[in-house]
Amino acid sequence: MAEYVLDKYDRPMKDLRISVIDQCNFRCTYCMPKEIFGDDYSFMPESELLSFDEIVRLVEIFARFGTEKVRLTGGEPLMRKNIDELIYRIKQINGIKDVAITTNAVFLVRQAEKLKQAGLDRVNISLDAIEDDVFKETNGRGIKTKPVLRGIEAARDAGLPIKINMVVKKGMNESQILPMARYFKETGDTLRFIEFMDVGNHNGWNLDAVVSKKDIVQQINEEMPVEPVDPNYFGEVADRYRYKDGAGEIGIISSVTEAFCSSCTRVRLSADGKLFTCLFASEGYDIREMLRTDCSNEQIISYLIKIWTKRDDQYSIDRAKGKPVDKKIEMSYIGG
Ligand code: GTP
Ligand code: 5AD
Ligand code: SF4
Ligand code: SF4
Repeated sequence: MAEYVLDKYDRPMKDLRISVIDQCNFRCTYCMPKEIFGDDYSFMPESELLSFDEIVRLVEIFARFGTEKVRLTGGEPLMRKNIDELIYRIKQINGIKDVAITTNAVFLVRQAEKLKQAGLDRVNISLDAIEDDVFKETNGRGIKTKPVLRGIEAARDAGLPIKINMVVKKGMNESQILPMARYFKETGDTLRFIEFMDVGNHNGWNLDAVVSKKDIVQQINEEMPVEPVDPNYFGEVADRYRYKDGAGEIGIISSVTEAFCSSCTRVRLSADGKLFTCLFASEGYDIREMLRTDCSNEQIISYLIKIWTKRDDQYSIDRAKGKPVDKKIEMSYIGG
């Protein structure tokens, strides 16, 4: 039986998000802007990355505290070699019920079937526009939608449940809200609109660039009427809405205009083994150091308990109150 550890606001440590690599084949303007992540940007060398053995050991420890859900992120997680082997091993761990991945889908064409065979439960796919001209701008690499749409198809053919993530930024892609909704209403995949967030230090965020949940729902509702639905699980980040004509649902992730910190059960591991208790943290806790200096599981466990019991993060709530934060980690480093 897992023993829950609660933080200062009684939140258990339930969802583990693991970044497996900091590199990406895209340069989304709101995540890895080209000016910072240019061709000479130095990503982590392989020796810095947690090995699969190290990740598996940590997931086994987290599972003892009630972690049931593991999400692999990046950068782009499918750029990590043999990721299917890691998925297979995580799926074998007692207590782990859900293994998911957040990807830009391009490599799914080659890998979807293998990932499904390894035990992957589902995929969340980032796609910010359905029209090529807009998408080419958002991904910073001039990539058309076709490779992503083919990746989505490959996931569907492999039988993987799919959610589509669209970050909405004013002046970038708000023109795509309705075209994206129409497209994915047709395919039946759940489309989630994400309010543009102030992650990292370089994405030029300001409140004026945020299209609010209220505006998004209003736009959709005028053309394709929707109604709210209860969350699938406690702490789900997306608010769900279903089309009144029965043609599936959408979600809105409103971390800016309606913070959801009070139910935040997420803990994040960076690719080099630092643990973060909030997406907007300034610093992480070095777990890799413990793994590589032969600390026992018991030592790691007491460190984790110490970290979690003193956790009082609620960045999005604080932001709404105007409380500033000096330096945040980058989204591509912490994995979103
Ligand atoms: P499901 O398990 O399918 O509900 O996925 P998810 O929404 O938890 O994960 P995904 O990787 O698809 O994330 C979608 C968006 O939600 C991304 O922009 C994340 O950065 C954002 N998000 C996820 N968790 C948090 C969180 O704890 N805080 C904030 N502020 N945003 C989050
Ligand atoms: N604001 C909101 N969502 C973001 N993502 C990346 N950067 C941002 C941002 N600044 C999303 C990606 C992906 C998920 C992991 O996070 O589009 O779907
Ligand atoms: Fe890559 Fe995803 Fe960041 Fe875009 S949002 S640059 S696809 S990691
Ligand atoms: Fe959790 Fe931090 Fe996101 Fe709030 S801002 S929901 S505490 S990760």
